[in-house]
Amino acid sequence: MKILLLGSGGREHALAWKIAQSERVEKLFIAPGNAGTADCGENVNMKADDFEAIKQFAVEKGINMIVVGPEDPLVKGIYDNLKADERTKNIPVIGPSKTGAVLEGSKDFAKGFMQRHNIPTARYATFDGEHLAEGLAFLETLEAPYVLKADGLCAGKGVLILSTLDEAKKELKDMLGGMFGNASSRVVIEEFLSGIECSVFVLTDGDHYKILPEAKDYKRIGEGDTGLNTGGMGSVSPVPFATKEWMKKVEDRIIRPTVEGLKAESIDYKGFIFFGLINVKGEPMVIEYNCRMGDPETESVMLRLKSDLVDLLEGVAEGNLDQRAIEYDERAAVCVMLVSGGYPQEYKKGYPISGIDQVEGSVVFHAGTTMKDGQVVTNGGRVIAVSSYGKDKEEALKKSFTEAQKIKFTDQYFRRDIGADL
Ligand code: AMP
Ligand code: GLY
Repeated sequence: MKILLLGSGGREHALAWKIAQSERVEKLFIAPGNAGTADCGENVNMKADDFEAIKQFAVEKGINMIVVGPEDPLVKGIYDNLKADERTKNIPVIGPSKTGAVLEGSKDFAKGFMQRHNIPTARYATFDGEHLAEGLAFLETLEAPYVLKADGLCAGKGVLILSTLDEAKKELKDMLGGMFGNASSRVVIEEFLSGIECSVFVLTDGDHYKILPEAKDYKRIGEGDTGLNTGGMGSVSPVPFATKEWMKKVEDRIIRPTVEGLKAESIDYKGFIFFGLINVKGEPMVIEYNCRMGDPETESVMLRLKSDLVDLLEGVAEGNLDQRAIEYDERAAVCVMLVSGGYPQEYKKGYPISGIDQVEGSVVFHAGTTMKDGQVVTNGGRVIAVSSYGKDKEEALKKSFTEAQKIKFTDQYFRRDIGADL
């Protein structure tokens, strides 16, 4: 079959790497892709949210399946757009409908959904600008620290955690006053949960689901989890506290009620669900939903997925995911992200990258790279993920740290403490 994968980051390179290993794939296109995805298939110069161009391309090339990497096209309704077009209505899109993507696109919707289906999550209330006084009063009922979340998508910047009531009140006023534009016209205020986070991924065809290997990601730029939040500086799979017993709780209390809840609410959802969980004294609770795979979790999770991903995706498309087998690799897998100096604030692009060909025994996923005059150059804050296997995470991390040092570009930086907290 011919597959079109949308996106251009490390997650998409990891998906492309896994998809390209399938014997069922005759041709893989990646749009727009990056310098790394070009090794797994053919890059197409097309934006992931240019629906008209995507549809025309899909028809022209006889595409049999479209896999959506990032949330943006999903939240904008790519699934519905293709379904509504005579030419493309029969091409399966791996990713939820626009209504399903609201699980990620609106924090308020996600919280309401969890409440309706008794899924464990932090106590919360949502306020708009006309109910500022009520919002301030609600803050007074909570204990520090305070969690404020812009309702809409803010590229990972919309969550504030404040240590004093005064700061929380000030930030609530600012957020409702347009700090994140329209995205913060409504703000979710919730109880702070204390624990270690874990990302759990599921593929669903709307009726059945398969649980993929879980992972933990490292969001802060600095070692010891300090400094600004980033898109993710590394990931580790498996997560030691995600034992069989803990994962059973996750499945019984969170995964199954979510899949059944989507169905009960007639929400068309065929794709990945990313559960951002937190382990509160041994009990899993949901921090957030995403309607896609995680980045950089995918860069470890794909290494641990032994089964043919395309077989699973076909199960999603055909609604018979229950008849497909999922097998995990027993080894640990990790990824260490090499980023541009300055990231997540201002940084420069266009620096030549050398040493990728020196890497041995690890898998190099490009996150933000492009080709310039025949040379791979930096093209983003997160530049390259170095993923490795090991008999345990220590061995895998040692491998990634060693290989990461071979890849050189101006102001290259990576965290040397990924996985150290586990
Ligand atoms: P989100 O965008 O909802 O994933 O939030 C970003 C980050 O904020 C999460 O990964 C958590 O580290 C943190 N966070 C969000 N909600 C809470 C909460 N209720 N309690 C503690 N930390 C939270
Ligand atoms: N690693 C977190 C995310 O993809 O949102």
